[in-house]
Amino acid sequence: MFENLALNSLTVRYGRHVLLNNLCGSFSRGQINLVVGRAGSGKSTLLRVLAGFHKEYDGSIEADGVTFVPSGNISLAFQNPEALFFNGTVEDEVGYALKMRRMGRDEIEPIARSWLQKWGLDPEKCWHSHPLELSGGEKRRLALAACTIFMPPVVLFDEPLAGLDAKGQRALAELLAGMSSEHIVIVVTHEPEILLEQRGTLLYLHSEGCRWFKPAEFLRNSLIDRNFFPLPEWYHSAVGQFAQSSDLPPIKADEVFRYVKKRERMHADKL
Ligand SMILES: Nc1ncnc2c1ncn2[C@@H]1O[C@H](COP(=O)(O)OP(=O)(O)OP(=O)(O)O)[C@@H](O)[C@H]1O
Ligand SMILES: [Mg+2]
Repeated sequence: MFENLALNSLTVRYGRHVLLNNLCGSFSRGQINLVVGRAGSGKSTLLRVLAGFHKEYDGSIEADGVTFVPSGNISLAFQNPEALFFNGTVEDEVGYALKMRRMGRDEIEPIARSWLQKWGLDPEKCWHSHPLELSGGEKRRLALAACTIFMPPVVLFDEPLAGLDAKGQRALAELLAGMSSEHIVIVVTHEPEILLEQRGTLLYLHSEGCRWFKPAEFLRNSLIDRNFFPLPEWYHSAVGQFAQSSDLPPIKADEVFRYVKKRERMHADKL
């Protein structure tokens, strides 16, 4: 288990093009570490560097003060991880990483079953199913369970909530928060408001560099100045009026969404 993962003057390139310049700061265990930025700002690339897939970088990474060389020791869940399901059963899918670590089937089964449960899937129901028979939210849970079953000290999630409905997003956000007690959890997201109740930090990547924020502070900046970072329009309409107040209301994004939709429907009925 690591306590923190520090970036020391990390500069990341694609050939001669510098994408991330002189990144400094650290991610910690016990909180959600968000990475936010516009399309193309380098969020996925940063995760690929940390996972050891992209090697064109200068500077260093340290885990608990010791130089850390990225390799397969960190887990990266890509965007739409369920697109990478192979052609087996849920049992094969969730146990794959342990099989690769040379564990036997009898050893794997109890671990895999309890891990599925932890991710909100009932192994009694789905153990022999084909992953593509699961619902969208269940597929995402299975994919993330499969990525994390070998208990890596750091887990990287690239837009884990994208494409799920509001309820699915909220349930998954809670699972990620729960994971943060045992892993350093780094989450790239376009939906920062979903994770806002969590204690945590937010790394904002933008064309001129990067900046670390407290999530609420980032949100307030975005509410006050739409050019700072584009939040969904419905979120502006729901909490925009609180932008200048000292505390943003602890609104759950899915509840706001339902409220706004209901208001829109009532408005449409009146017309
Ligand atoms: N293999 C590559 N070779 C050269 N340039 C690349 C490569 N992969 C990505 N890039 C460039 O690096 C930039 C950042 O890409 P990256 O995928 O990290 O962005 P992102 O912040 O994850 O964007 P998104 O929000 O769309 O997922 C983009 O301009 C992209 O074109
Ligand atoms: Mg990306």
